[in-house]
Amino acid sequence: MSEASVEQYHPGLEGVIAVQTAISNIEEREGSGILEYRGYRIEDLAGHVSYEETAFLLLHGDLPDANQLREFDARLRGWREIPEPLVDLLKTIPPHVSPMDVLRTAVSVLSHFDPELGQPASDHAANVRKAERMIAQMATAIALRERLSAGLPPVAADAELDHAANFLFMVTGKVPSARMHQAFDASLVLYAEHELNASTFSARVTVSTLSDVASGIVAAIGALKGPLHGGASEEAWSALESVGSPESAGRWIDLALARQQRIMGFGHRVYKQADPRATILKPYCQELSREVQEERWEDIAATIEQAVVARKKLPPNVDWPTARLYHYLGLPVRIYTPIFAMARVAGWAAHCIEQLDHNRLMRPRGRYIGPPRRHVRAAGR
Ligand code: CMC
Repeated sequence: MSEASVEQYHPGLEGVIAVQTAISNIEEREGSGILEYRGYRIEDLAGHVSYEETAFLLLHGDLPDANQLREFDARLRGWREIPEPLVDLLKTIPPHVSPMDVLRTAVSVLSHFDPELGQPASDHAANVRKAERMIAQMATAIALRERLSAGLPPVAADAELDHAANFLFMVTGKVPSARMHQAFDASLVLYAEHELNASTFSARVTVSTLSDVASGIVAAIGALKGPLHGGASEEAWSALESVGSPESAGRWIDLALARQQRIMGFGHRVYKQADPRATILKPYCQELSREVQEERWEDIAATIEQAVVARKKLPPNVDWPTARLYHYLGLPVRIYTPIFAMARVAGWAAHCIEQLDHNRLMRPRGRYIGPPRRHVRAAGR
């Protein structure tokens, strides 16, 4: 391999620009992280526009006007039901299978029943329609499997409720309060897209072979599952639970850092000062903790946060506040990562479509560090 190629080796592809994208922009400026979806700051989106508007923005390129929103929303509500064979499968997959593994299978099965299954991967309009259906149906599949796993009767979708409220309803069986609805919707908006993270990159690599959008989403779900990516919120909640009280937080951190443990929900490859998503979600956590009278988790979280920032200079990332936000919403920990996926599917699909619209096969090189050339000496000769 040439010297130039050796110099271009970037472990973890850190700092490598692999694609040009018009979907989102992340950067750090003046000590804070900035995240924009198609030019809009997330501070102007979360809490101001719904997940539906955000998904429309990501897939269609601009925020919808009133008519476009009404139609998009009607399409999503119309696609909430999932095919009967998938319902049966969700009932028969063994209970010990992790919800992310079930979701990976569910997305694959959903794609088999998509009415435009046979359309070529290059069909932009069909890809957008497939993405819309996937957004609606993934939420139902996650909620139904959760009800079944908990031994509870399924809850049918409520056509009166929007995407966020309906999901909470299908999982908990209760219509959420206005504050819960707003907080959950904001978390979906903030999870919806994040440039070329590991799962989105996996999706783009997959469709760069001219494979289909559903295959890209399946690949993305596999990548999101890991604890360094989407799995972090589940582990962040375990950390909060094992600390148990603000008084124990200092000792817990000391022990964890002495063991060189990673504190899940802290640190980020791009945001070194602050993850803006975590900053936006914190007040929602504080408000909801008061509503459900579980403020002690805010105290524990604050103590851990101060200690990690002081000791490791690592800011909390989005998975830190969502871990407790979802607890306040009564959502089981095992579906925290599937919820991340059901929000991020809008971003994944937008990236798959962008990749297919301007495709270049992703095919990087590896730097060989194995033994030098040698001769085969077959046994017994
Ligand atoms: N806890 C303790 N130490 C950490 C952590 C952490 N959470 N994150 C980074 N470090 C340390 C790491 O040990 C290393 O220290 P040293 O230089 O002494 O060896 C240094 O910081 C740099 O670590 P790195 O792994 O090179 O940094 P990175 O930019 O690759 O890390 C990360 C990004 C997200 C993988 C890492 O911060 C991490 O493992 N965080 C915990 C998992 C997590 O919360 N993931 C969610 C990310 S945001 C949402 C998402 O994308 O899913």
